[in-house]
Amino acid sequence: MRRLFEVGELLRDTTVRVVVTCGTGGVGKTSVSAALAVSAAESGRHVVLVTVDPAKRLATALGLEGLGGEPQPVPGITGGSLDALMLDMTQTFDDAVRSHAPKNRVDEVLRNPFYKALSTSFSGTQDYMATEKLGQLYEQARSTGRWDLIVVDTPPSRSALDFLDAPARLDKLAEGPVLQLLAPSSGPLKLIGAGLSQVTWLISKVIGSKALSDLQVFATAFETVMGGFRRRAGVVRKLLASPATAFVIVASPRKAALDEARYFVGQLRDRGTTARGVVVNRVSPAVSLSREAEESLKQQPEAYDWWQTSWVTWRAQRSRMVSSLPVSLPITLARTLEREVTDLDVVRELGLLLVDGAGLAQEDERPVIDV
Ligand SMILES: Nc1ncnc2c1ncn2[C@@H]1O[C@H](COP(=O)(O)OP(=O)(O)OP(=O)(O)O)[C@@H](O)[C@H]1O
Ligand SMILES: [Mg+2]
Repeated sequence: MRRLFEVGELLRDTTVRVVVTCGTGGVGKTSVSAALAVSAAESGRHVVLVTVDPAKRLATALGLEGLGGEPQPVPGITGGSLDALMLDMTQTFDDAVRSHAPKNRVDEVLRNPFYKALSTSFSGTQDYMATEKLGQLYEQARSTGRWDLIVVDTPPSRSALDFLDAPARLDKLAEGPVLQLLAPSSGPLKLIGAGLSQVTWLISKVIGSKALSDLQVFATAFETVMGGFRRRAGVVRKLLASPATAFVIVASPRKAALDEARYFVGQLRDRGTTARGVVVNRVSPAVSLSREAEESLKQQPEAYDWWQTSWVTWRAQRSRMVSSLPVSLPITLARTLEREVTDLDVVRELGLLLVDGAGLAQEDERPVIDV
């Protein structure tokens, strides 16, 4: 028999420092991440929720119209605390420079035209920046004690796995030909860094002396920044592979979403990680009735039809869950709420459903147990 995914237990477990939600597009990752974060915060934890999703939904749901790249306190949380932010890629890259480049060179680098060109193209790769941001938050959490849990809402679909692979790919990238070419200690820029007079004279003739000095500034700072970036990625890789990180897969009862959830489970397993559980969101509840209640409902044919249909729907959903999700995987269900997840009360309600267990709790029917 399948185990229930004990979401409350997970959120209370203080050895868990990072919760990452993943799943296919539109299943409710952002809503579930917010619900997990709010629930953990209200159970007394100090949580920071970072969304890689550029959609404004999270901001609206948390009452933070101006959600940006800096953690902002979510108003109305009781118990612990909750800060939220949206991944701002350029800002994250700038912050990386601030923390990795030599202190007296930071401003110079940030203003440098070569840096600007690189940062706009490189920071466009969401997963590197998400990795860097997670690393920054983790370091900040450790050094300031401001947070004891980081919840990460990943972008739609399989790109969430790119996020997992980003630290390793960053290493490869740094060793690859493009960055080797740019690295002052080994590539052609070594000449510039060393200030070899004839060569620099020649280059200054070709590209101009202003551009040359820009390139020199950039080249010397660049390696330090890349080094810091890679070190941080290494920390993140270890963190993601450790028991301090819990992966929560979000699905809906639709076949494609369930198949995608199974795909995620497999992908995590291939990386030596086990998904903590699956949230099947937007399930249609079916109410069980006693025989007498059923007989009396028959007197109202419309309501009786509706009730029967709800069971047909639920059984179809259940059989899809049974066939798609490995039985070793704990699951919890959240029913479709009456309202979209657009304010803190609804987020909280979703959190309660997740923590409550089946989220469909009927007196005599806890369907999740049979799935
Ligand atoms: N249990 C629920 N009941 C009712 N509405 C829900 C529920 N869960 C999510 N929603 C709604 O479904 C829509 C999609 O949810 P959400 O943005 O959380 O999904 P997502 O997986 O993050 O999407 P994307 O892949 O685009 O990032 C939103 O409008 C949200 O309010
Ligand atoms: Mg989302």
